[in-house]
Amino acid sequence: MSEKLHPVSVEVNGVRREAQVPARLSLVDFLRDELRLTGTHVGCEHGICGACSVMLDGEPVRSCLMYTVQASGHEVTTVEGLANPDGSMSALQDAFCETHGLQCGYCTPGMLIAAQALLNANPHPSEEQIRDAIGGNLCRCTGYQQIVEAVELAAKRTK
Ligand code: FES
Ligand code: FES
Repeated sequence: MSEKLHPVSVEVNGVRREAQVPARLSLVDFLRDELRLTGTHVGCEHGICGACSVMLDGEPVRSCLMYTVQASGHEVTTVEGLANPDGSMSALQDAFCETHGLQCGYCTPGMLIAAQALLNANPHPSEEQIRDAIGGNLCRCTGYQQIVEAVELAAKRTK
């Protein structure tokens, strides 16, 4: 018997995307496999690592824990949506490069989402607030210090 499909309409990085999806299709699989937005990574697939973080209506969420149908009618921002409109890197992305805020890069999309959501809400966070904001994102490479420095550098450059 074929699986029942459900209509969804999700605005992803400013573009309305319509699709018919199975009820149990996770949002991360929809983004990566259906929309080919592979910047969002899959790590643990049970809400621990933060690699799959995206913004849902501006708030960071774990897309491995959400069904696509739950995102219908909402706005999703993936790491691809953080770049400037001309395609150049954002101030935060530049800062990650400058401070060496990544090594293997696997955690980086989720870190960027968590950090950008923080800066959107609080353009000049304290170090403690930065560490708190990225506290749900695991990085096995950097020791986190350069990531914190990247967010501080981006905040310093924000008027
Ligand atoms: S893949 Fe979603 S939290 Fe790890
Ligand atoms: S840079 Fe490798 S996991 Fe963070």
